[in-house]
Amino acid sequence: MVDLSTEYLGLKLSNPIVPSASPLAQSLATAKELEDAGAAALVMHSLFEEKIAYETEHLTRFFHQQSIGHAEAESFHPVPDEYVSYQDDYLEHLQKLKTHLSIPVIASLNGMTPGGWIEYGTALQEAGADALELNVYYVAVNAGEDSTQVEDRYVQILQALRDDVSIPITVKLSSQFSALIPFTKRLQLHGANGIAIFNRFYQPDINLETLQVEPRVVLSNSQESLLRIRWAAILSDQLDCSLAITGGMHNYEDILKALLAGADVTHMCSALLQHGPEHIKVTLQELQRWLEAHEYESVQQLKGSISRQHAIDPAAYERANYISVLDSYTSATGVLR
Ligand SMILES: Cc1cc2nc3c(=O)[nH]c(=O)nc-3n(C[C@H](O)[C@H](O)[C@H](O)COP(=O)(O)O)c2cc1C
Repeated sequence: MVDLSTEYLGLKLSNPIVPSASPLAQSLATAKELEDAGAAALVMHSLFEEKIAYETEHLTRFFHQQSIGHAEAESFHPVPDEYVSYQDDYLEHLQKLKTHLSIPVIASLNGMTPGGWIEYGTALQEAGADALELNVYYVAVNAGEDSTQVEDRYVQILQALRDDVSIPITVKLSSQFSALIPFTKRLQLHGANGIAIFNRFYQPDINLETLQVEPRVVLSNSQESLLRIRWAAILSDQLDCSLAITGGMHNYEDILKALLAGADVTHMCSALLQHGPEHIKVTLQELQRWLEAHEYESVQQLKGSISRQHAIDPAAYERANYISVLDSYTSATGVLR
C-alpha cells in the first residue's frame, strides 16, 4: 500500500483529501459520511462577519427597547436566555463535530474588516477547532483604496486573529493580486501557517428580462484547477508554510497534479456536492492505484516534484508558456484562419 499521509498546518493527515468549506459540514450526519468515506479533515462552512454584525445589532436594539421601558415587548420578543444566536449555533455545531468525528476540524471565519468579529477566533479555539481558515473575500470597489491598502487589510485582519489565537491559521485567498509571492510571504511573516489557493469569485449575472443583477452559484469543473496548480508550483518553492488548493479538484488526476506542483492538501467542494461523500472513497482508491502503478511509495515522495523549481522546463509555468500556447493553436478544418 502506498502511504497517502500528508501534513497540513502541522496536522498529520491520513491522505490529501479535505472537504472544503461548504454546506456539507452543516449536517453532522453528512460530516460523518465524509469521514467514513476517507476525508482526512474537514473545513466547516464559514462564520460570516456580516451575519455576526447583523445579530449583534439586532440584540443591541432589543436590549435598548427593553431598557427604555417597552415592557409589553417582552411578551413577543424572544427571551434572551432561550435565544441561540448565529454565533452560538456555530460554536455548538463545532463542538458537536469535534465530539463525533475523529478527524481534525478546521473552523472558518469569513469577513473583510479588522473588526470585533475577529474575536470569535478565540471562541472557536476554545470550542476545539484544530485550526482556523480565514477567508477574506474582498472585492476592491473603493476607488480611494490602492493595492497596498487592499493587501494591508488582509494583513491587519490576520494579525488581529493571530494575536488572539494560538492554533494554526490558514488564509484562503483569491488569485487577484498583482504580486502573489511577496504578498503570501508577508502573510506568512504575520502568522499564517498556511495559504489556501484560490477563492472562486462568484460572478453576478444580469437578468435580461428583469434588468436586475442577480447572484449565481455555478459549480466548478477540473479546468479551474489549472490556475491553482500553476500557482501551487510557483508558491510551493517560495513559502515555508502549508499550501492547500481549493477550486477545481474533481478527480484523482487533479489531485495528483496538485501534489506534484507542491500542494500539501486538496480541498473538494463541487465534486462532493455533485457526487456525494462516497466520491472521496473512489478517488482515494484511484489515487492508490495510480501511485502503485507508477511505483511511488508515498505521497510525500511525489509532493512538489514538478514545482517550478523542479520542473524540467520551469519556464512552462511562466510567460513562455503563454507564447507557446498561442503558437500551438490550430483551427478546425474549414474554419477561416
Ligand atoms: C454552495 C457553496 C457554499 C460554500 N460555502 C463556503 C463558505 O461558507 N466559506 C468558504 O470559505 N467557502 C465556501 N465555498 C467555497 C468552497 O469552499 C470552495 O473554495 C470553492 O467551491 C472551490 O472549490 P470547488 O471547485 O471544489 O467547488 C462554498 C462553495 C459552494 C459551492
